[in-house]
Amino acid sequence: MNTALFLDQAHHFHKEFVWGVATSAFQIEGASRTDGKGLSIWDTFCEVPGAIADGSNGDVACEHYQRWQSDLDIVANLGVSAYRFSVSWPRVRPGGSGEWNSKGLDFYERLVDGLLQRGVAPYLTLNHWDLPQELQDQGGWANRDTVHRFVEYALGLHQRLGDRVASIATHNEPWVMAMLGHEIGNFAPGIKSRAVAAQVSHHLLLSHGLAVQALRAEGCKAELGIVLNLSPTQSATDSPEDLARTVLEDGRLVRWYMDPLFKGSYPSDVMDFLGDDAPKIHAGDLEAIQTPLDFLGVNYYTRSVISAAGHWDVKQSGLELSDMGWEIYPEGLTQLLVRLHQDYALPPMFVTENGGAFKDELDNGRVHDLPRVKYIKEHIGAVAEAMRQGVKMGGYMVWSLLDNFEWASGYEKRFGIVYVDYATQQRTLKDSALWYRNFLQRQKASSLMAVSTGD
Ligand code: FCB
Repeated sequence: MNTALFLDQAHHFHKEFVWGVATSAFQIEGASRTDGKGLSIWDTFCEVPGAIADGSNGDVACEHYQRWQSDLDIVANLGVSAYRFSVSWPRVRPGGSGEWNSKGLDFYERLVDGLLQRGVAPYLTLNHWDLPQELQDQGGWANRDTVHRFVEYALGLHQRLGDRVASIATHNEPWVMAMLGHEIGNFAPGIKSRAVAAQVSHHLLLSHGLAVQALRAEGCKAELGIVLNLSPTQSATDSPEDLARTVLEDGRLVRWYMDPLFKGSYPSDVMDFLGDDAPKIHAGDLEAIQTPLDFLGVNYYTRSVISAAGHWDVKQSGLELSDMGWEIYPEGLTQLLVRLHQDYALPPMFVTENGGAFKDELDNGRVHDLPRVKYIKEHIGAVAEAMRQGVKMGGYMVWSLLDNFEWASGYEKRFGIVYVDYATQQRTLKDSALWYRNFLQRQKASSLMAVSTGD
């Protein structure tokens, strides 16, 4: 995308459009056993030999639990209007049921108040993967009781923070929790069973719907929604096998979540494919899952190329790759948003995560991460293009504020627009952060100008 086109498109953002940065609890907080926090499935999973590429864990991470104030100063200084973060369930209710931990609740209360004092809207995610280990010991998300524990957790947090947060997302990326956590097994809790994964996905969706209903019944004023990882799926070739497989994989990644949430049913082709592994669904579950939402969060990183043989070598695409080995494909974000808008009746969508890992180097107090600047710029352009085509968008958030614990990749992959030197915990704004700050200033100025000229 050329710069002129980008600037032209950047003009399309309305003045209520929310600009933000995102993080998650386990990836930045550290303090894994401090102030009464219970263990999560990720604390446990990190101890499995070979599970994490660099053998690391979340014990220290970015020390955000101690450094939250200066981190929030960085957030405010960027000029964003929103900060998306998650609450660690085992920090506030260590066993997932039973006693609440007041020190954990106090931490998030200080964080939320600290954001408000700095003029930044708190966007809270309830579950960004760190399920209390004690619940896992009772079957975790495969156990239907966990659904009810989650609803209690949502209500408990609402009681404490609900009057001050702008937005509550129930889950982050149920596909990842179900598929990587329970079918492929390379993420916590490391289970490898297609049947378990399918049941987990259903329980995640059900707990989402019931939590939204319960929060609404309590008069929750925050906007309520869910965050999905979605991609356009494209066939590697025109062969009938590849094309058929692409439809199925689109079903497993996109329609398996979007259909029950917005149409009230699971896609029949995926149900047929799962056969005996299909989830057990009780009467009333699908009605609960379809509870209307205030927003849909979409996390987008790359497209998904499908080959029936099961293996697609990204190197043959000719597209540039990020340090994760993911193709950089901004037009996929436009395609995805337009398709969702056409196929479903949706509330406003937010891009709740978008960004790239690149090999960053600290060089005399600067990090010249030009590939990341380009990545973010082009993806913002892709959002603008979707809006131009009529898609209702509420906001865009960069993943991530800080370099952090990138799950099974440990600390080897850096997604931050702020560099973290893990030896000293020093933060350095990368060129991408400087670019984003500048871009936001220009956005603000042009929307002020639009108001004064009635544009
Ligand atoms: C998403 C996760 C987020 C981060 C990015 C790179 O799947 O939600 O925590 O790891 O990928």
